[in-house]
Amino acid sequence: MAVKLMAILLVETALFVITGHVVLATDSNSKHERPQKVTTTIRDNFRRANGVIKSIQSEDGDIIDCIDIYKQPALSHPALKNHKIQMEPSYVPTTDQTTRKINRAKGKKNKPSKSEVPLSVIKQIWHKNGSCPEGTVPIRRNLKTNNKAVPIVSRRYQRSFSQLSQNNTSNLLRPNHALSVLMTDGDPYFGAQGGIAVYNPEIEKSDEYSLSDISLETGGPESFETVRSGWMVNPAVYGDKMSRFFTYWTSDGGHETGCFDHICPGFIQVSKNIALGAIIDHISTPPNKPAELLSISIYKDMYTDNWWVDSGGEKIGYWPANLFEELNHNAEAVQWGGDVYSTRLETHPHTATGMGSGGYSSPIDWLSGSIRGIRILRILQNSLVWIYPDWAAPYADQVNCYDYNLQVVSDDPVFYYGGPGSGGQASKCP
Ligand SMILES: *[C@@H]1O[C@H](CO)[C@@H](O)[C@H](O)[C@H]1NC(C)=O
Ligand SMILES: *[C@@H]1O[C@H](CO)[C@@H](O)[C@H](O)[C@H]1NC(C)=O
Ligand SMILES: *[C@@H]1O[C@H](CO)[C@@H](O)[C@H](O)[C@H]1NC(C)=O
Repeated sequence: MAVKLMAILLVETALFVITGHVVLATDSNSKHERPQKVTTTIRDNFRRANGVIKSIQSEDGDIIDCIDIYKQPALSHPALKNHKIQMEPSYVPTTDQTTRKINRAKGKKNKPSKSEVPLSVIKQIWHKNGSCPEGTVPIRRNLKTNNKAVPIVSRRYQRSFSQLSQNNTSNLLRPNHALSVLMTDGDPYFGAQGGIAVYNPEIEKSDEYSLSDISLETGGPESFETVRSGWMVNPAVYGDKMSRFFTYWTSDGGHETGCFDHICPGFIQVSKNIALGAIIDHISTPPNKPAELLSISIYKDMYTDNWWVDSGGEKIGYWPANLFEELNHNAEAVQWGGDVYSTRLETHPHTATGMGSGGYSSPIDWLSGSIRGIRILRILQNSLVWIYPDWAAPYADQVNCYDYNLQVVSDDPVFYYGGPGSGGQASKCP
């Protein structure tokens, strides 16, 4: 099936080349209309054969293909040959009585957030230009991707190796990442959630990126398995500097498996409303209160072991259990926060790529990156409960460039994080 996908990509490329050639060759005379039409028809037929029911041209430049749910890209993964799509999670873990009782016993109320900002389904710009019909899923057409150029790092091991590297820099497992995160580990986790404020920080060079997300992880430093979701500005993947909703997975530390969104097969989508990798409509600008937060909930289906992603109640889809070896049991660590990728992190000048809002963490609401409604899904007293972790610690690689501020004074801690890198007047970045 991987071969088939490759063949499709080749045919696709060839079609574009042919179209380009025909138009060029006939540009100087009036006959160019006809060949163009013919190739368009060939391409339309080709798309229909590959499950494309409708294509939506978004005003932001993206093209969203509404693809027959049973012909979506994930199904070309060798491990998913006979996969039967799970249309709904078997059980949606909610904040039930037990959760409230446990949180009360711990002195924590269980309001989702004191922020007053709704945790709603994220809006994307392409919605202005149409919607996908029932039975299809929106897949962003990828024209510029260079997936191999954008490594994702294990947050757990980035932390321990950064500490080691202060004494011996050759110990760095994956250089070029700066994190500012809240992390918890030490228990079996079955899910994590939070509401992330969405910004559009400066990205200085087109091979750099900045993301803010929630990640769950398990396994060793070279073979970790992870599932993640949040927002990201990543020109190498998307061809521009806009904030987009993304997912990521790997089952071998990013060596051979895994990717963002639908760039490689793996993630099964069921939602017809959210496109992975599409531009987010409501971007916050400090110091204004955001219109909404990107609400993310990632949890394991205890019956199928699939890992579901939900945004504001919209069940987007899942990573099937058989992509993983260990994660289908549980995750060992969870992190919330920001990650800047750049080859110029510890050089002079340091990159001016920002994290979060691009401002240093500030407990004054809506100036910096923030995540609230922080929860993990655990088994307590024989039930699955969403609770604030017993233990969670903030961590940053380069506090002068990207810092954090965990506010635990309220019932419901808020994690503020981010920074300008070397950009702007206020930068303390060496
Ligand atoms: C998309 O929708 C916007 C707003 O309704 C409209 O101005 C624009 O022309 C549309 N673009 C396309 C390509 O249809
Ligand atoms: C690195 O060096 C510092 C001080 O020189 C020391 O406190 C720390 O324990 C060392 N870390 C490791 C992992 O050796
Ligand atoms: C640093 O670590 C590497 C890999 O672990 C090791 O080969 C090297 O000898 C170490 N260098 C020093 C100065 O300790």
